[in-house]
Amino acid sequence: MTDIKKGLAGVTVDETAVSKVNPETNSLLYRGYPVQELAATQPFEAVAYLLWNGELPDAAQLAALRRTERGHRALSDDVRAAIDLLPTRAHPMDEVRTAVSVIGARETAGISNVMDAVGTPEENLERSVRLWAQLPAVVAYGQRRRRGQELIDPRDDLDYAANFLWMTFGEEICTPAEGAEPVEAAGGAGGPDPSTSSGSSVASSGSSAVPDPVVVDAFNRSMILYAEHSFNASTFTARVIASTLSDLYSAVTGAIGALKGPLHGGANEAVLHVFTEIGSAENVGPWLDAALAEKRKIMGFGHRVYKRGDSRVPTMKAALDTLVAHYDRPDVAALYDALESQFVERKGIYPNLDYPSGPAYDLMGFDTLTFTPLFVAARVTGWTAHVREQQASNALIRPLSAYVGPDERHVEGYVPDAADVEAQERPEEAAG
Ligand SMILES: CC(C)(COP(=O)(O)OP(=O)(O)OC[C@H]1O[C@@H](n2cnc3c(N)ncnc32)[C@H](O)[C@@H]1OP(=O)(O)O)[C@@H](O)C(=O)NCCC(=O)NCCS
Repeated sequence: MTDIKKGLAGVTVDETAVSKVNPETNSLLYRGYPVQELAATQPFEAVAYLLWNGELPDAAQLAALRRTERGHRALSDDVRAAIDLLPTRAHPMDEVRTAVSVIGARETAGISNVMDAVGTPEENLERSVRLWAQLPAVVAYGQRRRRGQELIDPRDDLDYAANFLWMTFGEEICTPAEGAEPVEAAGGAGGPDPSTSSGSSVASSGSSAVPDPVVVDAFNRSMILYAEHSFNASTFTARVIASTLSDLYSAVTGAIGALKGPLHGGANEAVLHVFTEIGSAENVGPWLDAALAEKRKIMGFGHRVYKRGDSRVPTMKAALDTLVAHYDRPDVAALYDALESQFVERKGIYPNLDYPSGPAYDLMGFDTLTFTPLFVAARVTGWTAHVREQQASNALIRPLSAYVGPDERHVEGYVPDAADVEAQERPEEAAG
């Protein structure tokens, strides 16, 4: 009987030099570096460079990457127009998936031979950087559009993480300088503001207010932790698509579709729905009794590879703790701790990265529906590194399946002609 590995569990399908997950030692290495060390010391731009190039950048390499990133930060007219065609109630993951499709169609326009779609390694590195640089504007605009707020222009004086927060929140997230008048928020945090719903960008690029460093640091760490995780479902999807010699944008578009699901990236959004449902720490016990009785999966817990805890959680939990202190929200920490301790005690299943990142993004002010698009903005670095690795040593990914349908049967009245009979005799050539 065929040995089937449902969900490819435990199957090693290829080699990778991008990252190493070791559940035994609870470690995750990006190109050899422990992710915790990278999160504590590096800006996200440097980690992106590392994933694409194999080494951390020197000062000149980092400056060059930052110049390119800053050059592509603004939301392009075609992407904005495509997003504006979508209903404001569309899920933001659908917006991001659409945006990547539009960017891909623009960037590969004019390629008239499908054999050229795959591009050269150099072209694909440039495409990766440009795509990564454009995503914060897409995510930020999506959230602002849903809130009825205007687009905010990027700021050249800010690094990637600070600019991402700036484009999403404007001065809302800035700490006023000592003794200065409090800055007015660029828009309300709750519902559409009709007074700001015209099309032009509002926030002056000349503002000198800086996004709060505590929040920027926590956000930067989350981006680094989300950037890469070996052959997870979305990365594997990207590699499957790349293996057909399709283009990088098609691979990323497919990966976004895979990431949307709650068993994968959608879990960070789902964690917040769980927190909202529970309400507060004292409700955890009865809520968990009911959820377990219904055999519900508790989002943010469990992992296909890690069975004794996710290596990224302590770093993200520390970032969450700083946000809890910063925003003075001990109630969030109490709910987090109560659900974790009671679920671990009862099921022996530990939190994954989505468990601390969900409430962290909530405290930062992101809408719950924006959480998984943030994951896209980070993971696009890992996906594109894997796409290039797949292209460099390609074999079409095409597994087998064990057929369990009806035995061969025939359409009533059908009389085979000679060509059919010949094909039947050469079944291996007829297979697709
Ligand atoms: C991530 C996940 C899909 C990995 O699952 P997997 O390796 O395929 O393992 P399974 O789903 O088969 O789970 C094995 C057992 O643990 C249980 N389990 C795993 N995660 C669970 C969770 N979050 N809540 C409740 N039970 C869970 C399953 O019900 C199953 O129990 P059973 O053997 O009695 O049927 C799973 O843990 C999950 O659905 N987690 C919640 C979603 C999530 O947080 N995803 C983000 C992952 S980074």
